[in-house]
Amino acid sequence: MAFVVRITICVLLLFALCGQCFMKVVVNVHRMKIAQHIGPKYVGVTIDSGAIKEHWGTIDFKSPKFLTLAKGLAPNFLRVGGTECDFLIFNETTTAMDGSTDKAPRPNFTMTVAEWDQLNNFVSEVGWDLIFDLNVFLRKDGHWDPTNAIELLKYTIEKGYRLTGFELGNELDVFPDSPINSTEVAPDFAQLKQLLLSMPELAPFFILGTDVGSVGSTSITFMTEFFEAGGGASIDVATFHHYYMASDRATVEKFHNATVLESLRPHLINVTNLCKRFIPTKQVWLGETSSSYGGGAHEISDRYVASYLWLDKLGLSSVLGIQGVLRQTFYGGNYGLININLDPNPDYWLTVLFKRLVASPVFTVPQPPNPDLRIYAHCTNTNSSMGYTAGSVTLYLLNLGNTTVPIDVADMVNKTHHIYMFSPGDDSGLTSKSIKLNGVVLALANDNELPPLKPVIGQGNIQVEAYNMGYIVFPGAMRHECV
Ligand SMILES: *[C@@H]1O[C@H](CO)[C@@H](O)[C@H](O)[C@H]1NC(C)=O
Ligand SMILES: *[C@@H]1O[C@H](CO)[C@@H](O)[C@H](O)[C@H]1NC(C)=O
Ligand SMILES: *[C@@H]1O[C@H](CO)[C@@H](O)[C@H](O)[C@H]1NC(C)=O
Ligand SMILES: *[C@@H]1O[C@H](CO)[C@@H](O)[C@H](O)[C@H]1NC(C)=O
Ligand SMILES: *[C@@H]1O[C@H](CO)[C@@H](O)[C@H](O)[C@H]1NC(C)=O
Ligand SMILES: *[C@@H]1O[C@H](CO)[C@@H](O)[C@H](O)[C@H]1NC(C)=O
Ligand SMILES: *[C@@H]1O[C@H](CO)[C@@H](O)[C@H](O)[C@H]1NC(C)=O
Ligand SMILES: *[C@@H]1O[C@H](CO)[C@@H](O)[C@H](O)[C@H]1NC(C)=O
Repeated sequence: MAFVVRITICVLLLFALCGQCFMKVVVNVHRMKIAQHIGPKYVGVTIDSGAIKEHWGTIDFKSPKFLTLAKGLAPNFLRVGGTECDFLIFNETTTAMDGSTDKAPRPNFTMTVAEWDQLNNFVSEVGWDLIFDLNVFLRKDGHWDPTNAIELLKYTIEKGYRLTGFELGNELDVFPDSPINSTEVAPDFAQLKQLLLSMPELAPFFILGTDVGSVGSTSITFMTEFFEAGGGASIDVATFHHYYMASDRATVEKFHNATVLESLRPHLINVTNLCKRFIPTKQVWLGETSSSYGGGAHEISDRYVASYLWLDKLGLSSVLGIQGVLRQTFYGGNYGLININLDPNPDYWLTVLFKRLVASPVFTVPQPPNPDLRIYAHCTNTNSSMGYTAGSVTLYLLNLGNTTVPIDVADMVNKTHHIYMFSPGDDSGLTSKSIKLNGVVLALANDNELPPLKPVIGQGNIQVEAYNMGYIVFPGAMRHECV
C-alpha cells in the first residue's frame, strides 16, 4: 500500500516539476507525412459584385498604389461575385452610370461596357486570373436565360479579354425566398457548360459552383441535391463559402480562440467527404471566405487579431484537401486586405508572404499539446522572388496565447532557419492596425514597390513569443518531395 502511495507521489511530483515538458512543442521535419497537394494559386481574392453596382465606388484601378498592392499578390485568382451578381445586367449600349431606378429592395442594375473594360484591363495589368459570377436569376420557361451572358461573352471575346473561371449564381441555399432550388440549378450549369464550350475562343476555362453560403446541414443538403440532379458533371471545382461568425457578434477574444478556429474543421471534413463521394476527381475550394460575414467586424476584421483566423484557415484548409481559398475581399468592407485609403491591413502582408513562401505538397504536423500553438508545414515555394531552392520546407505557426512557446526543431536544430515572425504593430496589441515583421512595422515606402520582406537568419531552437505568428523556412531541409 505504502509502495503504491509512494509511486503516486513520485508521478505527481514528476508532473508538478515538469509541467512544461508535457507542453513542449517538437517538430521533426523529416518525419512529417504528405497530407495533400495544392496548386500555385491556392490563395486568391474576391471583389464583391456589389462594387459594380456602385460603379466601382472608391476603387481606383489606375491608382499606382492599388496596382502595386495587387501585383504583390500575383499570380492570383480574382473572383468577382456575391449576392449582387444575381441582379447584374450587362448593357452594351448604355453609358448611363446610374443603375436601375426601380424601388425594389434589391433592384437590378447595369454593368456598362466601361465598367467591364476597367475590370479586365486591371486584371491583365496586374497579372491576375478573373473568375466571374453570372446572373442566374435571368430566367425563361423555368431555365436560365443566357441571352445577357452571351452578350457579355461576345463582347469579351471581341475585346480579347481572358476569363479563367465562371460561376452561376450565389448562395442560393441561403438567399431569402430564392426563386431557384438545388435541383433546378443543376441543368442551368449544364447549359452554362454547353454555352462556354460552343465558344472556342473562351478555352481553356473552368466552372465553379455552387457557392453555397451556409455552414452546416443546409449547404450540405443543397450540394447533395445538386449532385444527385447531375450538377457535378458540369462543374470543375466545387465551391462553398465560410465565415466563422456574424460581424455583429464578433469579439477580439473570439478571433484568437482555438475553439473558434477549430469550428472550421467539421465543415471542411463534411464538404470534402461529400465531394469525394460525388465528384472524386474534382477540386474543392472555399469560394468566398473571411472572418465574419456582413462586411467584416469594425476594428476587428481589419486588425492584427484577424490574421489568426486567416492564417489558420489557410493551414487547416490545405491539410484537409481544399485546393483554393478565395479571400473576401481584396478591397471593400472591414475584411478587405487593403483598407479604403489603400493601406494594407495586417492580413495583406501575411498573404504576400504566404504566396512567396508556401507551396505544395502539404505535410501533416501533429497538433502540439499546447492548444495555444498551431503549426502547419508545406514545401517551400521555389518559384518566388525569395529565391528558395528545392528541398526547402516552410512551417507556419500561430501563438494564440500570452506566453512564449519554445519550439524544439529536433532534426533541424543544426540547420539554418529563416524566420519571418509577425507581431502587433503598435501598443494596441491585438487590435493594432499595423503589423510588424521581425520587429519592424510594415508599410509601403512608396507607391511603386513593396518593401523588402527579409528574414532573420539563425540556427537552433525557436521561441514563438506571445501573440506572434509567422513563417519559418528551413532551406536545408532536403525533403526530396519539395522540388
Ligand atoms: C440597355 O440600355 C438601353 C438604354 O437604357 C435599353 O434600351 C436596353 O434595353 C438595355 N439593354 C439591356 C440588355 O438591358
Ligand atoms: C430583375 O430582373 C429579373 C430578370 O429579368 C426580373 O425577373 C426581376 O423582376 C427584376 N427585378 C426587379 C426588381 O426589377
Ligand atoms: C425544386 O423545384 C422543382 C419545381 O418546383 C421541384 O420539382 C423540385 O422537387 C424542387 N427540388 C427540391 C430539392 O426541393
Ligand atoms: C458534419 O457532419 C456531422 C455528421 O453528419 C454532423 O453531426 C455535424 O453537425 C456536421 N458539422 C458541420 C459543421 O456541418
Ligand atoms: C473560446 O470559445 C469557447 C466557445 O465559444 C468558450 O467556451 C471558451 O471559453 C473560449 N476560450 C477562452 C480562452 O475564452
Ligand atoms: C513560376 O512563376 C511564374 C510567374 O508567376 C510563372 O509564369 C511560371 O509558370 C512558374 N513556373 C513554374 C514551374 O511553376
Ligand atoms: C494570459 O491569458 C490567460 C488566459 O488564457 C489569462 O488567464 C491571464 O490573465 C493572461 N495573463 C496576462 C498577463 O495577460
Ligand atoms: C547537432 O550538433 C550537435 C553537436 O555537433 C550534435 O551533438 C547533435 O547530434 C546534432 N543534432 C542533430 C539533430 O543533427
